[in-house]
Amino acid sequence: MIFNRVSLLALQAAAAAAWPHSSNLTGTFASGLSPGASVYLPSDPEYETQITQRWSTWDEPTYVVAIKPATVADIQFIVKTANRLNIPYLATGGAHAAEIGLATVKNAVNIDLGNLKGVTLDTTTNKVTVGPGNVFSDLYDPLYNAGREVQTGNAACVNIIGATVGAGVGPMQGMHGLVIDALQSVTLVTAAGNVVTASDTVNKDLFWAVRGAGANFGIIVSATYGVHPATNGGQLINGDFLFNPATNGSLWEVLHSWDSEDVYSPKMAMTLGVSFNHSNGQPLLTGNIGFFGTDAEFKPFLDKLVALNPVFYRTITVPWNGWSTVAGFGNAIRACDRGDWTNHYSVGVKQTDVATFTSFFNDITQFTAARPWYNPEIAFQRYNSKVTMAVPKAKQGVYPWRDIRMLVALTSSYDGPAHDAEVQNFMKPWRTKFQAASGFSVPHVYNNYGYGDEGAVAWWSAANLPKLITLKKLWDPLNKFGAANPIPI
Ligand SMILES: Cc1cc2nc3c(=O)[nH]c(=O)nc-3n(C[C@H](O)[C@H](O)[C@H](O)COP(=O)(O)OP(=O)(O)OC[C@H]3O[C@@H](n4cnc5c(N)ncnc54)[C@H](O)[C@@H]3O)c2cc1C
Ligand SMILES: *[C@@H]1O[C@H](CO)[C@@H](O)[C@H](O)[C@H]1NC(C)=O
Ligand SMILES: *[C@@H]1O[C@H](CO)[C@@H](O)[C@H](O)[C@H]1NC(C)=O
Ligand SMILES: *[C@@H]1O[C@H](CO)[C@@H](O)[C@H](O)[C@H]1NC(C)=O
Repeated sequence: MIFNRVSLLALQAAAAAAWPHSSNLTGTFASGLSPGASVYLPSDPEYETQITQRWSTWDEPTYVVAIKPATVADIQFIVKTANRLNIPYLATGGAHAAEIGLATVKNAVNIDLGNLKGVTLDTTTNKVTVGPGNVFSDLYDPLYNAGREVQTGNAACVNIIGATVGAGVGPMQGMHGLVIDALQSVTLVTAAGNVVTASDTVNKDLFWAVRGAGANFGIIVSATYGVHPATNGGQLINGDFLFNPATNGSLWEVLHSWDSEDVYSPKMAMTLGVSFNHSNGQPLLTGNIGFFGTDAEFKPFLDKLVALNPVFYRTITVPWNGWSTVAGFGNAIRACDRGDWTNHYSVGVKQTDVATFTSFFNDITQFTAARPWYNPEIAFQRYNSKVTMAVPKAKQGVYPWRDIRMLVALTSSYDGPAHDAEVQNFMKPWRTKFQAASGFSVPHVYNNYGYGDEGAVAWWSAANLPKLITLKKLWDPLNKFGAANPIPI
């Protein structure tokens, strides 16, 4: 147990203030944890270094105590104890989520899973098992060195299981599908504090629900994924582009010409970005491509972008495990920076409506130029959806939006709550416009990318909701989990 006398006393004071009915919160939790576990108060000096800090401070949860369990039994004990004392709790993986629902988590126990790491690759069965403290970059070297790969998210810092429970989108999606399509089984601690396994053979319905609504059903302590042989000898082409803002219309036209899944390569993962340089008052229109194939295969796509006469571009072939360090002119990793006031509206689209994209680009340029406190971090992520769509219904999980071709992520970073309303008044209508031009009649929202106000139908579809609600009532009837994207029961 890593806490000192000062912490203990402070924790008792905090507990007494927040939970008048619990006699000794510290003592109660401390009594049942393994020696490797640690307990911190938000006021502890170590809190900021020992507890995973949130990626966004916007609408973040508040805690009376943070516990870093060292064993699965620790998690069971924390869940059972908090249930008994009627204290809310939230599992923290990578702390990347930013959704309005998190603000409903107040005076809770933060169950920080950061101690529970371990990547075990079995090259005989082609499976990799990870813990709830592991982030995507933990997979890069072990898999690359064994000549394997697995579909991951984009950012190196995102928690593997945290992304998986939403579905997991990322650069190998065109070739291998969503991260949930690699998932073979999970072990989780349920709301009752029991340890259960879910897979295609055990607790099949729970496994279905975990693949898209997993944050609602328990704390996953272990997840096993199937891995693939490395594509193209493990090498990929990284392309980075800085486009002239004046050519944005032509860029959207190129994107539109790639809307067809017969045209857009499954080996190509593209993120177009819009940010802003307040020093010169100009928008930054960027592109990053990971291409898991040969120069010859990439050439027709590259040619179209080069024809736009970018201000600057470069292509470089790298081993896939080193991609994150070179992407975005070497700046992609900055997306991992923590502690900003950031939120994101998002919809999935199946087509590029050039007029909508152009009008958005002009509007956000104007909006931002007039507001030095505002920084857009817009991303359009394009992946071929054929493989994702081809997954048989019985293997799909509850995540319904396999037909999304491009994710629109309307991310805003700014100086704090004073400007929440102004940013919302600008961005929310743009979400509506992207939705209207999406080619989908009902909103397709990837729950891990949303603002949190879209609702269960937009996250899981009307068709899936009855079964999902039934399972929620079975596994988490008192609604202990899933504050970020709650299932309405
Ligand atoms: C910079 C950045 C890049 C991103 N890139 C991608 C991407 O490429 N692809 C993609 O799919 N998503 C991406 N995301 C979104 C990401 O999937 C979500 O933010 C996700 O919620 C992150 O999980 P986390 O564990 O890091 O966050 P947390 O905030 O710790 O957790 C999010 C939710 O999941 C729950 N949770 C966490 N761990 C577990 C567990 N072990 N068992 C059960 N529930 C758990 C939490 O309780 C919480 O409700 C990105 C986010 C950011 C900020
Ligand atoms: C609370 O529990 C701690 C740890 O078991 C113990 O040291 C402390 O004396 C207890 N405080 C009270 C007021 O009972
Ligand atoms: C975007 O492109 C259009 C032409 O398609 C152009 O009129 C407009 O000025 C461009 N926007 C910016 C901010 O440069
Ligand atoms: C932003 O503008 C300043 C001032 O013109 C310039 O020096 C700098 O290079 C620009 N940054 C980027 C990333 O374009």
